[in-house]
Amino acid sequence: MIIDSHCHLDFPTLVKDRDGVIARARAAGLARMVNISTNQRTFDTVLSTAEAYSDVFCCFGIHPEHAGDEGEDLSVETIVQKTNHPKVIGLGETGLDYFRNTVPQDKQQQSFRRHIQAAQQTNLPVVIHSRAAEDDTLRVLKDEGSVQGVLHCFSSRRFLAEEGLKLGLYLSFSGILTFNKSEELRQIARDIPMDRLLVETDAPFLAPEPFRGKICEPAYVVKTAEVLAEVKRVSYDEIAAQTTENFFRLFKKCPKNSPEI
Ligand code: NI
Repeated sequence: MIIDSHCHLDFPTLVKDRDGVIARARAAGLARMVNISTNQRTFDTVLSTAEAYSDVFCCFGIHPEHAGDEGEDLSVETIVQKTNHPKVIGLGETGLDYFRNTVPQDKQQQSFRRHIQAAQQTNLPVVIHSRAAEDDTLRVLKDEGSVQGVLHCFSSRRFLAEEGLKLGLYLSFSGILTFNKSEELRQIARDIPMDRLLVETDAPFLAPEPFRGKICEPAYVVKTAEVLAEVKRVSYDEIAAQTTENFFRLFKKCPKNSPEI
């Protein structure tokens, strides 16, 4: 049993065959999938997908690339309200993306801060996207004070991992961990405590080896977990059990027993 802590089941390439995607995930041993929201405009769809499958849950959030869109400038209260539904188990994805930098940085930071404040109020974890913005990600997190959360799709430098751990955050690894060129990332993963690790696909993006370049789907999380097991020099079953335990510790609102795992 394993969990995909971050996927986008409503992106067009997965919608076409969603029943198939879910069936293959279940066959691969997935116990839960977390469908991640990227804006308010499409959140109803994200939520209805979570409602349609007993093992799919979701998060509410505005991706930094959408933080400047019309209608996406939400107050903390509005973000908090979105979490009232039992299927909404966290906030995100939110954070900072200075790689494409299509949204002004102050706007991204404001949105990120509001998600953190909503996470503090609701006692839910925040799912953090940080790309080419390590310093500001840490500065905002330190400014806003203690929050539970995960640095999702971790592929940054070692200091963000170390500082994130000090802040009590979890680190989630995606298919990037399996890529040939990712030796430095595997070195970082080797040094992360076992009780702070999560795995994810970020499907439909970033398919792990040997599926690289294909449309990614949650079932492929197994490939990333296999590499993580090698890196940590433990069995696949141990990585699967540990990341599942970590997931339920962080995403406390996600029921362990229904559906049965
Ligand atoms: Ni994502």
